[in-house]
Amino acid sequence: MTESLSLVIPVFNERENIIPLVEAIQQALSGVDYEAVFIDDDSKDGTADTIRGLAGRFPVRVVVRRDKRGLASAVVDGIGFAGGNIVGVMDADLQHPPGVLPALYQAIQKGAEVAVASRYVKGGGCEGWGLVRRVISKGAVFIAHLFLPQTRNVHDPMSGFFMFRKTVVEGVALTPTGYKILLEILVKGRYRQLVEVPYQFRTRAKGESKLGVKTQLDYLRHVYSLMDRRRELGRFLKFCLVGGSGVLVNVGLLWVLTEYAGLFYLFSSAIAIETSVLSNYIFNDFLTFRDRHSRGQKDFFKRMLKFNAVSLVGVGLNLAILWLLTSFAGLHYIISNLFGIAAATFWNYLANVLWTWR
Ligand code: GDD
Ligand code: MN
Repeated sequence: MTESLSLVIPVFNERENIIPLVEAIQQALSGVDYEAVFIDDDSKDGTADTIRGLAGRFPVRVVVRRDKRGLASAVVDGIGFAGGNIVGVMDADLQHPPGVLPALYQAIQKGAEVAVASRYVKGGGCEGWGLVRRVISKGAVFIAHLFLPQTRNVHDPMSGFFMFRKTVVEGVALTPTGYKILLEILVKGRYRQLVEVPYQFRTRAKGESKLGVKTQLDYLRHVYSLMDRRRELGRFLKFCLVGGSGVLVNVGLLWVLTEYAGLFYLFSSAIAIETSVLSNYIFNDFLTFRDRHSRGQKDFFKRMLKFNAVSLVGVGLNLAILWLLTSFAGLHYIISNLFGIAAATFWNYLANVLWTWR
């Protein structure tokens, strides 16, 4: 079967960007059998006419939607119109440099089923972004990694610039509530190999962004709709139960070793703490994160070390909060300790989900 590439490009009032974009794509993809399908939501600035005017010289066409609006649904519709067996998605405003297209295409040729242009791998970045924007963007990535395990091996799951074999989404219902269509593909699509290619997200030269605060909120709704809520909530509950069992082990052993084995209580405590950390680890490995591990013995011990490290930081956090709230906020030490336990539980859970049993 011969390979052909369809670029799906959502556009809304991007007239000034069309010609430089199409020229840059043509230059980048010389020698590749490709077409560019623009999905225009009835722009009033003449975007569609500009594209039609180029159709004689370049392999471009435009689909105008009059009944619908929205970036994600434009992309989903565009995938339906794409004739190629490989689909590329990119923006029209030149923030996604067409010069990256060959690298994405080559990654697919070499066997990846999904190739993501990524701002967050070595060599990638965001031109002219201030600290606030960076933090928000990284926060969004963190949320995706936390709640959607399928995105964890991708540094930039929010990218709007990517390529994939059409087989990845064949028979898959794509229904994004937000505008992050890649998330949808990462969670629902069928693929084994994914590659990230670094790129610099450019500043917008012409026209203006269409995405505002509402789209940020849509993002959270989207993650919520995609996550396996029962499973992840169940996981957290199991983790807390295991933690509770660890407290029993700890207190029980402290008592037995001190009262019956005659050890000095601080010495007993050290043994009791480490034993409870280990028993927590074993229960979590077999119960809480059963779906997340490979069988190798080496990995079992590697995770055990990680779990120990996480727990050590957790204990430090617990002590620090106990001390701060008691000495400086004047709380009763038992109350302070409850806050300490809550913070440590939270920390332990995050770190173990995202690191130990990644
Ligand atoms: N058809 C259609 N309908 N196209 C739209 C619509 C719409 O309602 N809204 C936006 N577009 C088109 C724009 O014309 C542009 O080509 C592309 O979608 C991206 O829109 P921008 O408004 O420029 O988005 P952005 O730059 O804020 O966000 C982009 O970068 C993010 C990374 O930070 C998008 O690519 C996001 O998907 C990406 O995550
Ligand atoms: Mn943009």
